[in-house]
Amino acid sequence: LDWPITVESSVDSTNAEIFRRLDAGVRAPFVLLAERQTAGRGRRGRVWASPFAENLYCSVVLRVDGGMSQVEALSLTVGLAVAKALQSIGIDGARLKWPNDVLVEGRKISGILLELAGDPADVCHVVIGVGINVNMAVDVPAVIDQPWTSVRQCLGRVLDRNELAAKLLLQLRDCLSIHWQRGFAGLREEWEALHAWRGRSVALTAGNNATLGVVLGVDERGAIRLSVDGVDRAFSGGELSLRLQ
Ligand code: BTN
Repeated sequence: LDWPITVESSVDSTNAEIFRRLDAGVRAPFVLLAERQTAGRGRRGRVWASPFAENLYCSVVLRVDGGMSQVEALSLTVGLAVAKALQSIGIDGARLKWPNDVLVEGRKISGILLELAGDPADVCHVVIGVGINVNMAVDVPAVIDQPWTSVRQCLGRVLDRNELAAKLLLQLRDCLSIHWQRGFAGLREEWEALHAWRGRSVALTAGNNATLGVVLGVDERGAIRLSVDGVDRAFSGGELSLRLQ
């Protein structure tokens, strides 16, 4: 792996810290891990619980040449890499919820937050933030507003976070390399094999709007396909979120 790796004991958010380092002239690619985050960021303005030394808080920054076209489905590719890393340590039940949550038996074990820096039409950087609940104590996170689990709960033992970090970064490297060569199309089948909610009735929400449908799958651009009143429709966009009906 030729990404330099730095580990900090405490940052506000590994994503935010990477933006500052890019501004200060540090060159991508590189990886930043932290023992804790004081303001861990989740999707759609949420907080990501980040207690000290219990979980994995990891961000990778890469240069992306030639604009947004390949970035669109990138978050699905990252989700697949996380699910594969979890499977490689024995969590067979790791499944993907569109666009990029990783669930085990319906409970969230990992979240992913992609952020772009620079002009999206030109050369830019993508910051890939991954949080994985590893050994988090069950009584800690009052801020978590959804069912969650951890590697420890799934495996019944405490896991060395370095081992998981190494597996995660290698899976990321391998999945991203396919993504840059062939796009998400090259990973779609593998993603679908781990799809948590195919065939389920869901509500897709964007702000206050909800669309009800049945999940058909994901397409080659990473959009979610729903059957809505019998019509096959594809949806994409960062602010969308799915829940079971
Ligand atoms: C989600 O809402 O599901 C996304 C959570 C992403 C959390 C990770 S932890 C490492 C990186 N730094 C952050 O501040 N957020 C991401």
